Amino acid sequence: ADSLPLLQEYSNSIAFDWQLAPYDIRGSIAHVTMLGECGIISAAESEQIRAGLEQLAQEAVEGKIAFSLEDEDVHMNVERLLHEKIGPVAGKLHTARSRNDQVALDMHLYVREQCSNVISDISAFQKVLVTLAEKHLEVIMPGYTHLQRAQPILFAHHLLAYFWMLERDCGRFSDCQKRANQSPLGAGALAGTTFPINRKRTAELLEFPSVYPNSLDAVSDRDFVVEFISAAALTMTHLSRFCEEIVLWTSGEFRFLRLRDTYSTGSSIMPQKKNPDHAELIRGKSGRVFGALISLLTTLKGLPLAYNKDMQEDKEGIFDTVKTLRGALQIMAGMVETAEVRSAQMRAAAGADFSNATDMADYLAARGMPFREAHEVVAKLVAHCAENNTELIKLPLEFLKKRSQLFAEDVFQALEVQHVVDRRISEGGTGTSAVKQQLLSARELVSKKS
Ligand code: ARG
Repeated sequence: ADSLPLLQEYSNSIAFDWQLAPYDIRGSIAHVTMLGECGIISAAESEQIRAGLEQLAQEAVEGKIAFSLEDEDVHMNVERLLHEKIGPVAGKLHTARSRNDQVALDMHLYVREQCSNVISDISAFQKVLVTLAEKHLEVIMPGYTHLQRAQPILFAHHLLAYFWMLERDCGRFSDCQKRANQSPLGAGALAGTTFPINRKRTAELLEFPSVYPNSLDAVSDRDFVVEFISAAALTMTHLSRFCEEIVLWTSGEFRFLRLRDTYSTGSSIMPQKKNPDHAELIRGKSGRVFGALISLLTTLKGLPLAYNKDMQEDKEGIFDTVKTLRGALQIMAGMVETAEVRSAQMRAAAGADFSNATDMADYLAARGMPFREAHEVVAKLVAHCAENNTELIKLPLEFLKKRSQLFAEDVFQALEVQHVVDRRISEGGTGTSAVKQQLLSARELVSKKS
């Protein structure tokens, strides 16, 4: 008897699935409407139950519903609350239905809606990126490979790289939404029902374009939850990479960006500190989402058809994922939008450390020297500069001519940072005119979204 509370607490899901109440009630309203229309219960009973459910829906919106741990899950809670409201007729709601198709339905409604929410959060962040890129079109920063300065690029180009990642993320959520958009209701416990139900009617009432063709699949499918968390994991990966850059850029070593105070916190011991906590947390919290993905895949992989209680484990992971992802997207939008772009620092860094070396080699190659040879000539010049603490652009022409007769006065223009950037006008490149092109498509995409 001692272990009873433990058993109950261990198997209860109401502590977290109460969040499904609005979806559960909406599903029940559709179900009971159909039961009435098909003559499975009387029109009066259907109406009575529906009215009770509508009231509960209203109370749920107002946060007035009192869930009880006595009832195992949200489905039992809603039914008890309905019973308290309208009496024994409430017992007819569950005709021709099982908690198995009911919980599957709730999850479909939930995931379908969260896809829209996430897509709109992503789109809002994309808008911030486009606006910032437009505003700072002239800002040049170092582009990196191996975190070593490689070639100068436009800051706008860097921002837009994230825009396109996020655009693919939107695509994944809208794809997930398509598959979540199918009704499992009417599958019963696993095998369908003896009652003359109309599955297409409940689907129509709930705005599902189709119903699952197989009742076993309908109650045991959680692919759409996996897809959602998987899309979320990839989006978090993108946000985490961006956050890593924000952490670097706001450091004393880079000083490319300054965050608004709201997005950084001081240290309790070091008075000078401004820590990019939110960026770090988003980077850190991506781990929870990856965890939820692996956890759910693991839960599902050994399950025989059809419903198994293991499947209750789908919920906390996705609830946490939604909270983590949506929070991250909203915070990122604010953090990036309000950040101070330290363009002079970026520009100075872009001009240092030989990020114009490729262009010097290109210069020789364009004048007939095989690129491999040009690479070697410039590598030696770079070594010379490094030793003598100078820059390629500062070497005298006579000195350059000793290394190659192909050098002429115009090499210095070719080495100018602005020039280096602006010559990269191949499609999708960092040259200002190419980035302007890119911005046009990005702007067009976001304006279609709102
Ligand atoms: N709380 C359960 C879940 O989330 C609801 C379905 C229960 N079905 C059952 N046959 N025990 O999966």
